[in-house]
Amino acid sequence: GRVAVLMGGTSSEREVSLDSGRNVLEALRARGIDAQPVDGIPALVEALAQEKFDRVFNILHGGDGENGVVQGLLQALGVPYTGAGVLGSALTLDKIRTKQVWLSLNLPTPRYVRLDRGADAAAVRAAARSLGLPVIVKPSCEGSSVGVSRVMDEDGLDEAIALAARYPGEMLMEQMVVGDELTVGVLGDIALPSIRIVPRGEWYDYNAKYIAEDTQYLCPGLEGEDELRVRELALAAFRAAGCSGWGRIDVMRSRATGAPYLLEVNTAPGMTSHSLVPKAAAQLGIGFEELCWRILEQTV
Ligand code: DAL
Ligand code: MG
Repeated sequence: GRVAVLMGGTSSEREVSLDSGRNVLEALRARGIDAQPVDGIPALVEALAQEKFDRVFNILHGGDGENGVVQGLLQALGVPYTGAGVLGSALTLDKIRTKQVWLSLNLPTPRYVRLDRGADAAAVRAAARSLGLPVIVKPSCEGSSVGVSRVMDEDGLDEAIALAARYPGEMLMEQMVVGDELTVGVLGDIALPSIRIVPRGEWYDYNAKYIAEDTQYLCPGLEGEDELRVRELALAAFRAAGCSGWGRIDVMRSRATGAPYLLEVNTAPGMTSHSLVPKAAAQLGIGFEELCWRILEQTV
């Protein structure tokens, strides 16, 4: 049957999503699937009113693509879609509430403080002192490191908060885990091999994610028991957050102790040429076309 590849939209990750979407579209077509691109939710509603789609491959990053809104719409219309359902999507687009669920289950995530919009400078400094510098300041509901700052000393706090405050919703300040950045993809019931990201610059920001050609990716990211443990943890965290189908969990591993800390879940992870789930799948011998096909097979 026909597949709508939902991409683009209006979030801060629009350009990334268009890039992911074009790749998915091409891969599905190469597999002989009648796939059509659809840019954003209003266009999806129109397309669904005019013709029959048997499924939606949702590769709309951020905003209403990953927060349960489009999932609810499709659920109500009885159209199967890729990725997590309403609950898992709505929960995991909100980093603060995801952390609250993990903490309640004793799943490790860095300590954090929720920041009120308009919190005064003294309250912000007190939060940073309670966590201990350096800290990360970020909007609770963005992706691709948009609006995120590393703050090394108190002088950097105001600017970091002004940047995060440009985006809607709440903000958080999180203890910075000094160590390795790892990510674990999930495909159906299995965790893919982890990837350790070694950015050329100081950290894995938007530039290192999508533009730089010198970011290094090691897969599997760890060895032996450590690798198995991080995969198990990621899968447990994914399920605890009510997610299914496919996704990617970002993790920091402390250099001092080796302990992993969960950062967040992405329910429509990037599928660009720089993206991570395709790299992890390739390590298992699953090429990009096969990956898209398998994600599509997970629709419910
Ligand atoms: N939010 C981006 C697309 C990712 O996680 O890959
Ligand atoms: Mg994200």
